[in-house]
Amino acid sequence: VVQLVRDPRGILASRIETFRDTYQLWRLWRVTGRRPHNLDLGQVNTVCEDFFRPVSTGLAKPTWLRGRYMLLRYEDLARFPLQKTKALYSFLALVLNHSVEDWTINNTRGSSDMSSRQKFTTVRDSAANAENWRVKLSFDMVVYTQSACQLLGYKKVFHPRELRNLSHSLVEDRTFLPFF
Ligand SMILES: *[C@@H]1O[C@H](CO)[C@@H](O)[C@H](O)[C@H]1NC(C)=O
Ligand SMILES: *[C@@H]1O[C@H](CO)[C@@H](O)[C@H](O)[C@H]1NC(C)=O
Ligand SMILES: *[C@@H]1O[C@H](CO)[C@@H](O)[C@H](O)[C@H]1NC(C)=O
Repeated sequence: VVQLVRDPRGILASRIETFRDTYQLWRLWRVTGRRPHNLDLGQVNTVCEDFFRPVSTGLAKPTWLRGRYMLLRYEDLARFPLQKTKALYSFLALVLNHSVEDWTINNTRGSSDMSSRQKFTTVRDSAANAENWRVKLSFDMVVYTQSACQLLGYKKVFHPRELRNLSHSLVEDRTFLPFF
């Protein structure tokens, strides 16, 4: 089992963009700066649970997962694509050949070394993508979400300055090694 997890605040931001009808009131909140009184609080609980339930199962290290479980944080994969891809392949006992390595480098690096044409292809800055919820959600929305969710492995923010300062990482320095 390879479990890919993401910061619940990032999950929420992504769902707001993807399921526009379902998350309409969240968009209204973002635009008006006021939380609609009829906002469905169940939606944020679902986001929290979708994150927390599998993670807590994995981290409890049940014997039935021994040697078969790896937790991978999306943010780590985005920040260190090659290093994490190597760890993943090694866990799966697969050989990482040069084409996969090249593909990973080509499709995750930043825009600094790209021609403007490439910006509109699949070439992405994966680290910036993983963090873009920090400019897409309002501070109130973030505070609300992080008070509802248990942020295992991620840091809360207490000030808008902290939220928007992308040099300040919200990913706790942790390695989740496969357990045997
Ligand atoms: C590299 O690995 C990929 C994916 O497993 C495979 O499709 C490809 O044929 C391999 N290439 C070489 C040169 O071994
Ligand atoms: C990676 O990018 C280089 C340079 O643009 C290109 O020559 C190469 O074919 C690409 N490799 C893969 C696997 O995408
Ligand atoms: C942003 O965060 C970095 C790292 O924590 C810190 O050194 C810097 O002073 C912060 N910048 C602002 C404008 O708060």
